[in-house]
Amino acid sequence: MARILTGIQSTGIPHLGNILGAIKPAIEMANNPNNDAFLFIADLHSLTTIFDPNIRKEHTYGVAAAWLAFGLDPEKTVFYRQSDVTEVCELTWDLCCSAPYPMLANATSFKDKLDRLSDVNGGIFIYPVLMAADIILYDANFVPVGKDQQQHLEMTRDIASTFNNRYGETFVIPEAKVDEQVMIIPGIDGQKMSKSYNNTVNIFLPDKELRKVIMKIITDATPVEQPKNPDTCNVFKLYSYVATTDKIEEMRQNYLRGGYGYGQAKEALYQTLVEKFSKERELYANYMNNKEELDKKLKIGADKARVVAQETLKRVRTKLGFK
Ligand code: TYM
Repeated sequence: MARILTGIQSTGIPHLGNILGAIKPAIEMANNPNNDAFLFIADLHSLTTIFDPNIRKEHTYGVAAAWLAFGLDPEKTVFYRQSDVTEVCELTWDLCCSAPYPMLANATSFKDKLDRLSDVNGGIFIYPVLMAADIILYDANFVPVGKDQQQHLEMTRDIASTFNNRYGETFVIPEAKVDEQVMIIPGIDGQKMSKSYNNTVNIFLPDKELRKVIMKIITDATPVEQPKNPDTCNVFKLYSYVATTDKIEEMRQNYLRGGYGYGQAKEALYQTLVEKFSKERELYANYMNNKEELDKKLKIGADKARVVAQETLKRVRTKLGFK
């Protein structure tokens, strides 16, 4: 039996990158009877960049609703809010003292935020240690994530090994599971799709708003009648993640032939998204109208998660000489 664990930050409503890069692969792994799974909402991580409690709360529900809409089964999976199991904060401190300063200072996401944000707080610096604690606390073997989180997983392994070397075998060393097909989903501007770049496709938006986002995808200015290169086009790239093989080939031929405009390609992408995710969009809206149900499910998960967390902390406290 392998343990799968992964989390989504509640910094926004999960976008197509989160869904294809993490939510869908994680749920597939969770539904495999040879695995048990811990899937959660990383609301403590959202403290580093979101400072409005109401927005955080709404996004936390949004992430929960997205997990469930894509088929997370809370009977089989431990499904919880990170902040409901405060043991993770104690472990974060223990791990901070086994996390070398230069490793944290060289983290790509930290350097990226140093460059982009005017307000860089301590939380952003120790962000990877909280993430390591999320994983290590529950003895996870495999962590399905997008490629952008791979470095954080390397750091987690490093921190866990340093601790094990210092205090004796205590933690399972986890492994990242990155799906080669969906490592980095591009956003509407062609950069990595990310809440921090403001280039996301939120498939849960109402039809009209979703269509507007799709129509905003950046393309070059090749006129309608001329042939176009599908492999450098953001619309085609996104289409190829969601359409069937036949439809993708059909669009490729349309591009190469010419007489096919980007507006038509965008319309096809929009229609495909709406059709492909119609069930999930409906379920998401139902859950968002029934937050008490979400709270109930998350509480059951937190109670289960806490039992495992307390066992791990007992082990850690003994190793550290507290007990
Ligand atoms: P977050 O919330 O930024 O993203 C959640 C998951 O979505 C993946 N992802 C992508 N995959 C493909 N293409 C993209 N454009 C794209 N954008 C995001 C991410 O790789 C991630 O798997 N630090 C984590 C949250 C976290 C976590 C954890 C994850 C906290 N604790 C413990 C795993 C285990 C984060 O910020 O993800």
